[in-house]
Amino acid sequence: MTTVADKPIRWAVLGTGAIARAFAEDLRLLPDATLVAAGSRSPEKGRAFLDAFGSPGRGKVHGSAEELARDPEVDVVYVATPHARHKDDCIACLEGGRAVLCEKPFAVDADEARAIADVARRTGKFCMEAMWMRFHPLIGKVCELVAAGRIGRVRLFTADFGYPTSYDPESRFFNPALGGGGLLDRGVYTASLAQMLLGQPSEVVGRAAMAPTGVDEQETALLTYDSGAQAVLTSSLRSRLRNEALIVGTEGTIRVHEPFFAPSRVTLTRHVEPVGPIPEAAGGPGGWKAKLRRSPAARRLVNDVARPLVRMLKRDSETFVEHVPGGGYQFEAAEVMRRIRAGERESPIMTLDDTIAVLETLDALRRSWASA
Ligand SMILES: NC(=O)c1ccc[n+]([C@@H]2O[C@H](COP(=O)([O-])OP(=O)(O)OC[C@H]3O[C@@H](n4cnc5c(N)ncnc54)[C@H](OP(=O)(O)O)[C@@H]3O)[C@@H](O)[C@H]2O)c1
Repeated sequence: MTTVADKPIRWAVLGTGAIARAFAEDLRLLPDATLVAAGSRSPEKGRAFLDAFGSPGRGKVHGSAEELARDPEVDVVYVATPHARHKDDCIACLEGGRAVLCEKPFAVDADEARAIADVARRTGKFCMEAMWMRFHPLIGKVCELVAAGRIGRVRLFTADFGYPTSYDPESRFFNPALGGGGLLDRGVYTASLAQMLLGQPSEVVGRAAMAPTGVDEQETALLTYDSGAQAVLTSSLRSRLRNEALIVGTEGTIRVHEPFFAPSRVTLTRHVEPVGPIPEAAGGPGGWKAKLRRSPAARRLVNDVARPLVRMLKRDSETFVEHVPGGGYQFEAAEVMRRIRAGERESPIMTLDDTIAVLETLDALRRSWASA
């Protein structure tokens, strides 16, 4: 008898926009995945999508989430519609008996996310937010380094995510009816990585600048944790930011280079924070060390030559490089298939509770803007 463990997992994609195409392209990197259906408001677009990313002339096009959900040939639906549609689309798919991988943000707020999670738990179907960053091999490496104590106790996390986006009030970025705003589109990554590394914050404050449509176009958040750690998160729809993440611990720093949500380079630098009183420079305030520090030429020599040399000799800096094939969406898809084959309902790397917790943080930020 053939079981789900040795059959290819049959995927459907709901919505045929930009990310659906990128995801379907990466799905082709997985030999045990097959694209069998598409859900689209337009039969022509749905057909063209399947012809481009599935087998030409094969697979079914469905006109709605409800119709797609009734297709017994589909194991799992990848929901790639705008955020404001996620709740209804996910619930329709789960109620129809399909597993779900839903694009980020999973929903527009925590209440909607809880409603989806309730249906997933009631129907017993696998369900996960497509927070692909969490499944990227180098993000896995970062978590491993932090968990192994390689940078000591985490004290500070900073991350920023911003690229200029053309202003179109009708687009999903700026249209409030489609769940527009930088926080839901980009801030969700910085908050999700903070949640992954530090857990639930005890306090959340933030400020946002608004676009003419009333959605947030730039936002900065300060999150504090019971451990004493802090996180500073910035996202923008309008400006190009560094798009890096920095995790600062008591014994080292991890820099996740741009783009931090799908990195190909991570640098770990070891250092030890001084404890106790700050030692006086050799010879006191007028001594040779203090004089050296005041000289720009000496400072340049120390910073540009001596320090990198010492670092190299002490090997206190390590770089991890990984260039993955495709766009990097195949890792989340592979995780979904692994869990479905194992009969599991969630992934421990992106649990529904964690998704809800991140949306609670985003909700708290919006309340903080409103109280300003
Ligand atoms: N993981 C990532 O890297 C990543 C990147 C970009 C976006 N996303 C997420 O993916 C989702 C879709 O983003 P996208 O950039 O792919 O958007 P998009 O290009 O606008 O595509 C969304 C698709 O959803 C369908 N749709 C259903 N109802 C719609 C409605 N009322 N208005 C507009 N489209 C509707 C449309 O497909 P049909 O015309 O075929 O019905 C449309 O092409 C968002 O939640 C976004 O946050 C994730």
